Amino acid sequence: MLAELEQLESDALAALTSATDTAALETWRIAYLGSKGRLKGMMPLLKNVDKADKPAVGKRLNEVKNALENAFERQSSLGATESAGPAIDVTEPGLCPPLGTRHILSRTIDEVRDVFARMGFTHTEGPEVEDEWHNFTALNIPAEHPARDPIDNFYMGESEGSRTLLRTQTSTVQIRVMETQKPPLKVIASGRVYRPDTHDATHYSMFHQCEGLCVDKGITMVDLKTALFQFARAFFGPEAEVRMRPGYFPFTEPSAEIDMKMQVKGEWTWVELGGCGMVHPNVLKGVGIDPEVYSGFAFGLGIERIAMRKYGISDLRWLYDNDARFLRQF
Ligand code: DAH
Repeated sequence: MLAELEQLESDALAALTSATDTAALETWRIAYLGSKGRLKGMMPLLKNVDKADKPAVGKRLNEVKNALENAFERQSSLGATESAGPAIDVTEPGLCPPLGTRHILSRTIDEVRDVFARMGFTHTEGPEVEDEWHNFTALNIPAEHPARDPIDNFYMGESEGSRTLLRTQTSTVQIRVMETQKPPLKVIASGRVYRPDTHDATHYSMFHQCEGLCVDKGITMVDLKTALFQFARAFFGPEAEVRMRPGYFPFTEPSAEIDMKMQVKGEWTWVELGGCGMVHPNVLKGVGIDPEVYSGFAFGLGIERIAMRKYGISDLRWLYDNDARFLRQF
């Protein structure tokens, strides 16, 4: 019986090498390992074996069974890969993983910065939590001015006898720049500002501004208008036009509102962009710059407004919703 077992094993293994597809494998399995297969067929012969030899023959029978089962597993896994074709189709076009992009507001700030950088403005930033000196007093906003009303400000607490608040305007950075640097100065400062406004399509309690400041000898309103005009044309296109309307800000004299002519739904209209003016002599004096020697201009632009105009966004709140369907469009 041992000799028959050896014969069975070598027959089976030889036959298996030529079983290369699923059908042939199955035929082989039925022939050798199936319930009516050759291996099962040898089981009854075991009872004819001498009692003394039985354990050795039984052991060999098991070994052959295991060897055939393992060989079948191996051959099937090879066959499976072959019949399913190559696992990787190198001719398939690749799948592009979705890539994130910078937020449209961040990109707008970068673009504004780039345009002013070309005009020689450096960029700076200031703190969002400010004291009353930088947000009001140094900007020539008197103690009793309604702009300081708690209804219009996010007051935070007190520090060294002065109230702190979330800044309401980036004009605070003008003061910080002039306190630490001497003219000539040509800087822009961008960042978040906060006001307790009710949220709607054009208002939010947090938004972004870009502040500009230029201080030197002989700076006039013409320089201001030139800078803004150049900005508008570079940012919105060569047909963009800027106009200045008389306005009032405590920290500039004279002051103006900046409008830009642009197409809104096919119609040319004037759209307000922000405020500007010549830096008030009191502001210069307050930071130790002699207004008899130096003069300067300043402006503040609303970044959201600029982005909404440029990209045709009609509701400010979409900018903060973080809805990927909106953000993906830019
Ligand atoms: N800070 C003003 C605001 O938030 C905007 C502004 C007006 C900035 C005139 C200026 C300026 O620098 O000169 O409404």
